[in-house]
Order: sequence, then structure tokens, then C-alpha cells
Amino acid sequence: MSREMYNEIDLAKININVEPPTEEPGRQYYFMAKCCKWVKDFEQKNGRRPTACVTTFGCQMNARDSEKLAGILEKAGYQLIDNEKADFVIFNTCTVRDNANQRVYGRLGELGGHKRRNPGMKIALCGCMMQEPEVIEKLRKSYSFVDLVFGTHNIYKFAELLYASHEAEGMVVDIWKDTDKIVEDLPAERKYPFKSGINIMFGCNNFCSYCIVPYVRGRERSRKPEDILEEIRRLVADGVVEVMLLGQNVNSYGKNLDNPITFAQLLREVEKIDGLKRIRFMTSHPKDLSDELIEVMAQSEKICRHLHLPLQSGSTRILERMNRRYTKEQFLELAQRIRDRIPDIAITTDIIVGFPGETPEDLEETIDVVRRVKFDNAFTFIYSKRTGTPAAAMEDQVPKEQVKQGFDRLLKTVQDTARSQVAKYEGRVMEALIEEITEKGNSVEKSQPTENGEVMEKEHSGGESVSMVTGRLSNNTIVHVPGDASLIGKTVKVSLDECHGFYYIGHCV
Ligand code: 5AD
Ligand code: SF4
Repeated sequence: MSREMYNEIDLAKININVEPPTEEPGRQYYFMAKCCKWVKDFEQKNGRRPTACVTTFGCQMNARDSEKLAGILEKAGYQLIDNEKADFVIFNTCTVRDNANQRVYGRLGELGGHKRRNPGMKIALCGCMMQEPEVIEKLRKSYSFVDLVFGTHNIYKFAELLYASHEAEGMVVDIWKDTDKIVEDLPAERKYPFKSGINIMFGCNNFCSYCIVPYVRGRERSRKPEDILEEIRRLVADGVVEVMLLGQNVNSYGKNLDNPITFAQLLREVEKIDGLKRIRFMTSHPKDLSDELIEVMAQSEKICRHLHLPLQSGSTRILERMNRRYTKEQFLELAQRIRDRIPDIAITTDIIVGFPGETPEDLEETIDVVRRVKFDNAFTFIYSKRTGTPAAAMEDQVPKEQVKQGFDRLLKTVQDTARSQVAKYEGRVMEALIEEITEKGNSVEKSQPTENGEVMEKEHSGGESVSMVTGRLSNNTIVHVPGDASLIGKTVKVSLDECHGFYYIGHCV
């Protein structure tokens, strides 16, 4: 793990015997100092530092939020570990589909068991799922051993809430409905020293009819470009070579700023940062993808040859019911325009099967788009009914058996096109950023998703005795090459010798 530079504020210099400041982030540093004192007392009593474990469910935005939670815990003096038997465990939850919720409840049951054995343990829950009132009700009723619950809007207050949970008896619950507030400059503890996600905006205004995100993440708010650029400069100074700009709909970045700017203009500025080698971003809504963005990507040396462009459905009728605001033909035309201007780009997508009212004919339209666009990868999801969304109230929910059949048919098509797209580059030499040691001398393929966005791990028995490392091409394809830990974080030229379905085995040249 790597620590970001603005972790350097010295907590020892903060006077914790006075009232807390009201302004941010000063207030949070004050509470970090308070937590630090608590940690020191714990250490004196127990002869060791308290341990903490942060578990993330869901998307890249949550992964980045978790780095901030970990940064605050670390700053307060906790020892971060990967084990849920820690003294403090926090689940950063997701609620996009119901199976994410079910997994949280299952894992929470296990945590309850740990807590019975270690009564001093504290359990915290945060993230999207906590923004749902029914969830809070259920926690109060059936999971009363939980100590701290907060949502997505007040995550920046984590230090303050952590301190409150040390002081309080019983469950501390602090959920906000919405906020405009964006707090900058909190510490973060990065998972990878050489790459980092960066939030450029929060929330979503699109209200796709199946989606709960606008309700749990609130309205769209963009960070100021100067704050984003400053954060990236600091990250680069700290060893980062690849950034992933994150937002629910990055193509509408900047519209609500006092001095509006476009996402393409932001990218131009990010490109100028010396030392930064690769720029990625997600997610792009097709309705807002501009020609200006295509042009900036085409001309860029640093923006990766990968665009994640969720289709959701290929049927214009279903797209309308989904409130996606594009037609099948418009999507096809957009994909073509992108491929014409940037021929080596990989286009990946998200697709939902079983949206209310979807017929087998509608699914054929989706399959037709998959074949024509030739997606390089696709995350396929079974529609999940989310309480409070317009689609949940639609009457014609699709029978399970039909959904299952459609899903399998779609998955097969998606895998066929993805395989042939990936195989296109066999024999070529490309640049890869080496990310990690390949697990257990085997190549573990992690790029082919299954239902619910989970990645399916496919083992390939590569040369057991040779140390292998895993790298990522600009187009997001994985390549395994012989090498050791000294290559991690470096960009190297690799020969893509053999395509194994969704990844390559190659060698450095
Ligand atoms: N059911 C199934 N999939 C969904 N997604 C969002 N909401 C739902 C839902 N209710 C999928 C969309 C989105 C991705 C992040 O999750 O495909 O792009
Ligand atoms: Fe959900 Fe649509 Fe917003 Fe994406 S764009 S987060 S699918 S409402």
C-alpha cells in the first residue's frame, strides 16, 4: 500500500482539548487526532495497536472511497489488516443489485460471530446500501450488534463518526439524504502504489428507470478542475503513473460548475501533467459522448485505448422504457464513429437481461448489437428489482426461466465476440503496465465477467516454476509474462505470443 502525500498533516500538533473546528477538512483532522489518542490508550492497555479491516463491495467509486476510509484509520494509528477478525471492521456496501445486499447480510452474520468472541470489536457499515431506509430498519431489528452506520453523503465525516462510535454505547446511525458538499484533502491509503482512481464527480442525474444510484448517491456534483489536477499532480509525485477518472457519467462532467468546462477539456489538462503515463476513465453514458471527446482521445498519447460504454439493451423499445435516451441505431452509429476515428480502441459494455416487458425479440436486438459492435468485453446482469425505482412498479416483470435462457444466450454471444476481439492482436508487440505477481505461478484470468459483475476466475496452468507477472495493455486486456516483482509499476514492451481466450501469455521484448 502507498500513502498519499497529503497524509502528512501532523496530528500531534492539533489541540484536542478545545472545541472542534467547524470548517473542513480541519474538523476531520481534529477528530483523527482524537482517535489517535484513543488508539494510544488502547495500545497501553493491550500491548498492541488495534487492527482494522476495510471490505469493499461494488464499483470502482466504492474502491476509491475505501482507500479514504483506510487512509483515515491508518492516520489514526490503526494497523490495517486483511482479516475480518480485526478490532474494527467496516463494510463499504453496494446496492445496485439485490444480490450485493444479500451478500452483505450473509457476511454480517459471520461478523456477528467474531464479535461474540471478541466483544470489544467494533463493526461499521457505510456506502450505498445504507441510504435505503428499509436497510436501516432491518439492521436495527436484526443486526443490533452493529456499532456505526453512515451513508454516501457524509463519508468525509468518517473520522468524526469513528470517534463518536468509540464514545457511544449502542448503534450510531448518521444518514444524510443529500448534500452539495465536497470535502477535499483527506488522507487515503492506496491499494496500488502506481495507479489510482480519482473521483471527478459524484452522484447521477439520469434516472435510468431500473437504477437506484441517483437515489443513493444524490444529484450530480463535479469537483473543480483545479482540485482534480492538483490531486493528480500529488499522486504523480508520489509514484502514480496511471489514473482512472471516476464518475457515474463522466461525459457530463463540469456542466454544473461556476465556470463550466467539458470532460474533454479536463482530459486535455490531465494529459499535460508530466510523469503521468496513462489516463483511464469510467463510466461514459452514450447519450452524452461528444465528438470533442472522441477527438481528444484520438489525438492523445496518454488516454488508454479503452472505452466503457454501457448499452443496457439493444432494443429501442426497451431503451425507452429504461429512460436511456438513445435508440439502437444511435448507439450503433456512435460505436462506429468511435471505431472509425480510433481503430485500435476496445469498447466494453454493460447489459441488463430481463428488464420488465423484455421479450425474446427484444433480446435478439441486443444480441444483434453485440455482434455488430463486437464488444471487447461485456458485463452482463440479470435485472434486479430495486424498490423505489420506476421499473420496480412496472407490471410486466419477466418470468425467471425466460430470463435465465436469454441470459445464457447473451453470455455465449458476448464471450464469442470478446474472444475474437482479444485474439486480434496475437503476435503483436504492445506496451503493458505490470501490475502484480501472477498468483501461484498460474495465470488467473480476471477479465471475463459473469452475472452480477463478479469476475470469474479461470485458472490456466502456466509454467509452474517460472515467476510470472500480470500486466495490462492500454486496451485493458491482461497479459502474463515471465518476470519478477521489480517490474511492478513499470511499463514494458511485451510480445503477445498466445491468446488464451480473454488474456495473453507473452514475454517482455
Ligand atoms: N438490475 C440489474 N443491473 C443493474 N445495473 C444497474 N441497475 C441494475 C438493476 N436494477 C447495472 C447496469 C449498470 C451497471 C453498473 O449495473 O448495467 O451499467
Ligand atoms: Fe444508474 Fe443510469 Fe446513472 Fe448509470 S447513468 S448510475 S445506470 S441512473
